[in-house]
Amino acid sequence: MSNGILVLSEQELRKFVQLDMKVIEKIELGFSELAAGKATVPPIMMLPVPEKNGEVDIKSAFIKGLPSMAIKIASGFFQNPDIGLPSQSGQMLVVSAETGFLEAVLLDNGFLTQVRTAAAGAIAAKYLAPDGVDTVGVFGCGVQARYQMEALMLVKPYKRLLMYSIDTDERKQAFVKDMQQKLGIEVKSMGSAGAMVAECGIVVTTTPSRKGYFEPEWVHSGLHITSMGSDAEDKQELKGGVFAKADLIACDLRAQSFRLGELRGAKEEGFVTDKTPVKEIGEIIRTGKSARTDKKQVTICDLTGVGVQDTMIALMAYEIAKREKAGIVVPR
Ligand SMILES: NC(=O)c1ccc[n+]([C@@H]2O[C@H](COP(=O)([O-])OP(=O)(O)OC[C@H]3O[C@@H](n4cnc5c(N)ncnc54)[C@H](O)[C@@H]3O)[C@@H](O)[C@H]2O)c1
Repeated sequence: MSNGILVLSEQELRKFVQLDMKVIEKIELGFSELAAGKATVPPIMMLPVPEKNGEVDIKSAFIKGLPSMAIKIASGFFQNPDIGLPSQSGQMLVVSAETGFLEAVLLDNGFLTQVRTAAAGAIAAKYLAPDGVDTVGVFGCGVQARYQMEALMLVKPYKRLLMYSIDTDERKQAFVKDMQQKLGIEVKSMGSAGAMVAECGIVVTTTPSRKGYFEPEWVHSGLHITSMGSDAEDKQELKGGVFAKADLIACDLRAQSFRLGELRGAKEEGFVTDKTPVKEIGEIIRTGKSARTDKKQVTICDLTGVGVQDTMIALMAYEIAKREKAGIVVPR
């Protein structure tokens, strides 16, 4: 056991972790280990703060063979943008899997969560979306909308990005400008959600909506949908009928998606049952090939965010920081 606890700031962590293929591969490995039965993932503890449209979640996972594990405390307060703050924040604790002692505190303000979530979106697209899609769409123009579109570009390069959001004009314009700069492609804010989906081969939903808004009528041949905004019992983006149009349904963790994700709403609306075939993304990864067998198939991936993602990214950041001798060590 080391003599001290390593404390790392967001600024330092950003130097060591970027949204790139290295991170995507790490998160992919985490999902694969989960599907192989090598991970213990306790249920998420969630503290709702309805007065502020907020929540605090605690996630964690132990993965056999790894020397440490992460315990994450993540907040989503969706009125924050009105006061000039991002909706998401948080921090992670790295705990030794040998002794249970605290090894590091990652004061990332939610940065690592943003990256690991975007990586999961990229993995969903890699294994489910069709190749050769020119136009993609995103619902929402917040922080995850940006990260998801950046991650998607790494695995399924595209030429045109459309966005539909219920945000202020100012924030929509800021998204268009930022993403044009970042991706170097045409980016357009759309006035009609249905018209947007009609033009897209891949759509990602990234909103904290409490009511399904994605209409079954919008689903068309070959469409892939990744839905990552719903990660709580009261959130829903896809109306249940969207699932009735799917040829292939995937998720990150079945039990969690049926509790907190789109599958919860779809089940309540009677469009899926516990017997509906739903593949976990780790199971698909372990086959080593795309789950899509036909370009006309409609595919959906429901992502709720799993502790294995947090442990994988936290350990990656911690290992690099130790190697680089970064951070401050607080004596025990
Ligand atoms: N699955 C995961 O692992 C994971 C991880 C992180 C965040 N999340 C969730 O993702 C969601 C988005 O997070 P964020 O940080 O990007 O939030 P954000 O507040 O930065 O952005 C949300 C965007 O959605 C828009 N929006 C809200 N309702 C809408 C609707 N009905 N139609 C179209 N646009 C709508 C908002 O105007 C805003 O632009 C949250 O629900 C968050 O909890 C999930």
